[in-house]
Amino acid sequence: MDIQNLAYAIAQIFHNFGAVTVVGGAVFALLWRATDVQCRLARLVLAGWLVQVMSGAAFGAISYYYYAKFPDIFGIAVVALVVKVVCAALGILLIAWQLLAQTSESSRRYSWIALCFMGVLALISAAVLRWFS
Ligand code: HEM
Repeated sequence: MDIQNLAYAIAQIFHNFGAVTVVGGAVFALLWRATDVQCRLARLVLAGWLVQVMSGAAFGAISYYYYAKFPDIFGIAVVALVVKVVCAALGILLIAWQLLAQTSESSRRYSWIALCFMGVLALISAAVLRWFS
């Protein structure tokens, strides 16, 4: 078995489930308003964003381990990757703020809408990154 492919596949499994969690969790939170549910979803979505950062970094680390350099990506692919990283950073900040600051119901709702938007934008960027790299 090719260990390198196995490593990529494992990182991809985490990355795919992380993507489902950040987008699905935010959509559920918009539909399901009970405070205890919102709180659990916020923790789940925070974990999802952290998994995205770690598994995203793992793709780079695996390439570096095997080729002693990061993948050559240019132009649109770089923009797509930067968009994903910015979405992840904002997503983590926003959900951490929601958890720590005991926000009102209306600001929580706006923050879930923003989190949905960032998840969807990151998914769109993933497709662009995939096919322009
Ligand atoms: C720090 C943040 C992130 C980094 C560094 C990162 C990095 C990467 C890398 C290197 C790939 C492989 C690209 C390829 O196959 O050419 C990838 C794939 C992917 N990423 Fe991310 N990512 C991040 C965040 C996200 C987020 C937030 C989402 C979704 C909400 C996401 C969804 C995906 C998906 C669905 C793929 C598979 C695309 C495909 O093969 O068609 N990523 N990511």
